[in-house]
Amino acid sequence: MSSPKLYVLTHGCQMNEYDSAKMADVLAKSHGYERTQNPDQADLLLLNTCSVREKAQEKVFSELGRWKSWKQADSRRLIGVGGCVASQEGEAIAKRAPIVDLVFGPQTLHRLPELIEQRRQTQRPSIDVSFPEIEKFDALPKPRAEGPTAFVSIMEGCSKYCSFCVVPYTRGTEISRPLDGVLVEIAQLAAQGVREVTLLGQNVNAYRGAMADSASCDLALLIHYVARIPGIQRIRFTTSHPAEFTDALADAFATEPKLASYLHLPVQSGSDRILGMMKRGYTRADYLRRIERVRAARPGLSLSSDFIVGFPGETEADFEQTLTLIDEVGFDCAYSFVYSPRPGTPAANLRDGVPLEVKQERLRILQERIRVHDDAYRNALVGSTHSVLVEGRSKRGGGQMAGRVSANRVVNFDAPASLAGQLVDVHVTGAATNSLLGRLVLSAAECA
Ligand code: SAM
Ligand code: F3S
Repeated sequence: MSSPKLYVLTHGCQMNEYDSAKMADVLAKSHGYERTQNPDQADLLLLNTCSVREKAQEKVFSELGRWKSWKQADSRRLIGVGGCVASQEGEAIAKRAPIVDLVFGPQTLHRLPELIEQRRQTQRPSIDVSFPEIEKFDALPKPRAEGPTAFVSIMEGCSKYCSFCVVPYTRGTEISRPLDGVLVEIAQLAAQGVREVTLLGQNVNAYRGAMADSASCDLALLIHYVARIPGIQRIRFTTSHPAEFTDALADAFATEPKLASYLHLPVQSGSDRILGMMKRGYTRADYLRRIERVRAARPGLSLSSDFIVGFPGETEADFEQTLTLIDEVGFDCAYSFVYSPRPGTPAANLRDGVPLEVKQERLRILQERIRVHDDAYRNALVGSTHSVLVEGRSKRGGGQMAGRVSANRVVNFDAPASLAGQLVDVHVTGAATNSLLGRLVLSAAECA
């Protein structure tokens, strides 16, 4: 008999991608499910959704509408909804869309096998959107590497309660995985060929992993431990909150060469008035002080950020402050969004007098400003040689290989496919729109 097939549709951030991979791992172990990219071939459809922005709920129900005929074609087929939207809506999802069999949250995805069995026995939807602390990680099967890079979640939830953000309500408050569990997972991935790990969490600076001697390990110390794992050659982390960005973490950029030359430190706005209303817990000057320290520790570091434009009451002067901050810091990369009111968050009750067209125009101006710094950063790399982790074939085709420099930029270059998974030196010969062009540098021994 052939294995049952699983199709997972993921909307959202790297955390959601990580969770989707774990759902597939759990179901492969419990029921032998194999992942397919074709929903028509699947026996189980999972929708893993994010509700950080936009009308996530409506997107879920319209997707479910499209899946209705798939379900009606064979009543044994199952549909599950997970992620932040499931957390927020819970039982209401199955009530509004009776084709749904399973509803689970980010913290209960490891219970999917039980939820499926319960559904089969009771013939009623199985729902579990609780926050059972950190038991999820103990229940997950051994990780499976897919290439030389991997994400590893080091904590769940967030306790910062920024006034615009739904995450603390959908993913629960901050809770760190014990240190041993994180190190074992990374060692298992490294043994399968992973060379670069990204330590994941909504606010990784709050990581306090329990250690054997009842002490706790912070992010800076964790990075040093991870760097000692045989095979691991590069470490990244995301997302880092400026208010908890410690001097020890900044100093790790000086003392730990395996820490990548890239920092994503979301600032959201350059206006102290807006930062206060967002309840971010730092001022523009605090942010600039942290940048100064980290740049002193690692000159040339690539700096990336998140921005929200059109927060309720944002004036032209506030927005101008964001633009001047962009120029002062020289962010060479950014994720920027128009503010979107999230039900249940404090900011959703603020009067929002900024017209949508104004917000969209501000977003366009901001993105253009970032593009100027991005172009300058990429062009500055031309003519220098960088260590590149070869990830696989280039998306540009033409038989080239692609990898990333430490500063997180993609570089395409001619090389044999056998180099996938290795760190090689590449001389950057040019800058394309979103990537770099390069030439593999052969060592003296290879040239002989
Ligand atoms: N933990 C991160 C931090 O330190 O700020 C942010 C994680 S959040 C899931 C990712 C990004 O989504 C935020 O940095 C913010 O820019 C954006 N975001 C969150 N809520 C939003 C909202 N209501 N409207 C628009 N963008 C939002
Ligand atoms: Fe959201 Fe702020 Fe946490 S943006 S994820 S509440 S740091």
